[in-house]
Amino acid sequence: MNTNRYPKALETIQTPFYYYDTDLLRRTLACIKSYESSYEGFCVHYAIKANANPKLLKIIQEYGLGVDCVSGGEIQASIDAGFDPSKIVFAGVAKSDWEIELGLAHNILCFNVESIPELEVINQIATDKNKTANVCLRINPEVGAHTHTNIATGRAEDKFGISMEDMEKVIHLTQTLSNIHFMGLHFHIGSQILDMSDFEALCRRINDLQDQLEQQNVKIEIINVGGGLGVDYDSPESNDMADFESYFNTYHRLLRLRQGQSLHFELGRAVVAQCGSLITKTLYVKEGNQRKFVMVDAGMTDLIRPALYQAHHKIVNISSEAETTDTYDVVGPICESSDVFDTDVTLPTTRRGDLIAILSAGAYGEAMASRYNCRPFAKGYTSDDLC
Ligand code: LLP
Repeated sequence: MNTNRYPKALETIQTPFYYYDTDLLRRTLACIKSYESSYEGFCVHYAIKANANPKLLKIIQEYGLGVDCVSGGEIQASIDAGFDPSKIVFAGVAKSDWEIELGLAHNILCFNVESIPELEVINQIATDKNKTANVCLRINPEVGAHTHTNIATGRAEDKFGISMEDMEKVIHLTQTLSNIHFMGLHFHIGSQILDMSDFEALCRRINDLQDQLEQQNVKIEIINVGGGLGVDYDSPESNDMADFESYFNTYHRLLRLRQGQSLHFELGRAVVAQCGSLITKTLYVKEGNQRKFVMVDAGMTDLIRPALYQAHHKIVNISSEAETTDTYDVVGPICESSDVFDTDVTLPTTRRGDLIAILSAGAYGEAMASRYNCRPFAKGYTSDDLC
């Protein structure tokens, strides 16, 4: 057992389960906070969609981050975890009436709005409740991100946001709606972005849009640049922290904030990905005609990223003491041929009962789990639980 990273107590827990290293989470949060406090006007929200495990939320909340929510359930989970509602932003392409009501009831910081019909419904509900809804408009900046096509969102053909052409028209509409207070602009170009030139392109686009709006005397209080900072899925053990320095520096250097404006970030993956591992047990080692399979008890129901996005997660055998290695396909027990975690993985010679860790699984792992095949949800344990 690699006891430097994994406590021995893991051996006694029913697999599969998520294991979260809270020291790493705390170091990550401390790093984010240090940039937030050194750059004036920067406010970081946690994109709770990445992982809403209450144990992690409690820690993230202690560091004073705001939250980025995309559903009423996420707003409720944030409130339950003790986050300050005045630091909640609420995005999402199609918000239900009850979700809008919940946001208004908690006086959240703002709704990130994506269409005219949505704006009108928020105004109507706010009027009925005798409230004013703070609103940022999500603009599609037509900035392509160098990432998997399923998680790029800021291109002209994507479904998200209001086009730049319509932006002024929609801002003027907000000014005619009695119970809407227009606060600013929201963007998000995609996820798992490692190339800072994508964020640079977004900064330049925002500068142009701000110049344009300034000429129209439109007052902008908030710029929200979304999330998207990627992590190192190939070498998570040696590189367990996202490149926050380059990321925040890029915005500090390039984005021209006006007096009194605040710059908001919605980071999900970069906060929680590296602190989480999916721990699973080897059920069988099967020798096929051409390939050897390590068949584990976790499946795509527990971690869907490899099946859905061909995402790569590093896989390690944490219990073997074998001195020889072999090459395996690591597969799950679900009746789907896409239930494969990775192919051609070099592991110590693996036997039934060996514990396997699938790394960098803290973001969009537990949060995207399903109960397909009537499988129970994998539980989440933290290093604090096991001390
Ligand atoms: N803000 C908005 C408006 C978003 O749509 C997202 C993610 C975020 C912030 C947080 O992005 P992050 O910092 O985590 O990149 N399930 C996919 C990722 C989907 C991301 C959806 N939106 C995956 O497993 O890779």
